Amino acid sequence: MKGIILAGGTGSRLFPVTISISKQLLPVHDKPMIYYPLGILMLAGIREILVITRSRDRWLFEELLGDGSVFGLSIAYAEQPEPNGLAEAFVIGRDFIGDSAVALILGDNIFYGAGLPEICREAAARESGATIFAYRVDDPQRYGVVSFDGQTGLAETIEEKPERPRSSWAVTGLYFYENSVVDIAASIRPSARGELEITDVNRAYLARGDLHVCRLGRGFAWLDTGTHDSLHDAASFVRTIEHRQGVKIMCPEEIAFELGYVSADQVLKRAELLGKNDYAAYLRRRIRELADA
Ligand code: G1P
Repeated sequence: MKGIILAGGTGSRLFPVTISISKQLLPVHDKPMIYYPLGILMLAGIREILVITRSRDRWLFEELLGDGSVFGLSIAYAEQPEPNGLAEAFVIGRDFIGDSAVALILGDNIFYGAGLPEICREAAARESGATIFAYRVDDPQRYGVVSFDGQTGLAETIEEKPERPRSSWAVTGLYFYENSVVDIAASIRPSARGELEITDVNRAYLARGDLHVCRLGRGFAWLDTGTHDSLHDAASFVRTIEHRQGVKIMCPEEIAFELGYVSADQVLKRAELLGKNDYAAYLRRRIRELADA
C-alpha cells in the first residue's frame, strides 16, 4: 500500500499566520504539523509516500523531509496548483499510485490514542473497498458526516458539511482505498463549492456496499488545527501528554527505529545533525532506552 499526504490549501482561516508559510509546516508544540500525519502512515506500515503541496511550497517540504531516507521511507512530491478538493489527490497521484492500494491523510489532521497502530494496520491490510474513520464531535456541520442504521450499525448516509447533520459522527481526514479509487476520483464532478469532494468518493463505496466505517471511540483524540484556538489547543494537548509521559507523540525518527527501518547509528547521526536541542537529546535518550529494553 502507498500513502498520500495532502498538504495543499491556502490555510486562510489562519491568516495572517499562513500568508507566507504553509499551514502544514507550522509547529504543533515541538514538531512541524506534517510529522503527525506522516507518523500515522508509518504506523500503518506504509513506506512509499507522496506529499502533495501548493506549487510555491513544494521546496519547503522537500527541505524538511527530503527523500524520506532519514525516516527509512521513500518520499516523492507533487503539486496541487489550485485547491480543487481532496479527491484531486488521486488524480494528481495517479502515476505514483500505479496499481497499488492507497491511503490518504490530510496534512493537518492529528490523531492520538492507544491501539491506533493496530487500527491503521488493520485498515491497510483490508483488501477490498474503502475504510474511513468516524469521530464524535460537537460541531458536525463543519465536516463530512456519516450516519448509521440503528439496527445494523452500518453506515447509512454520508454528507459533506450538512446544515442539519443526521449524526454527531464526523468523517476524519484518514482514508484507506483499494486501487479503484483512482477511477472513481477521475469520474466525479466538482461540487457546488467547486471541489472534487472526498465525500463523493466515499459515497460511491457506500453505494457499492463496500465502505467500512471504523468508529474511533472516546479514548481517542482527533484534533483540529484549523483555527488559531484549535491550533493552540492541539499544541497544548501534545505538550501536556509529552511532559507527563516523557515520550513524544509522532516522532518519525523514533517510529522508524522502532519499526526497524533505520539503525541506532542513523538516528544518532540525525540527532548530531539537528544539533544541541531538546529534540536531538530526546532521540539520543530514546535510542539508549530502546536498546536497553
Ligand atoms: C475535509 C473533508 C471533510 C472531512 C474533513 C476532515 O473538510 O471535506 O469531509 O470531515 O476534511 O478534516 P475541509 O478540510 O475541506 O473543510
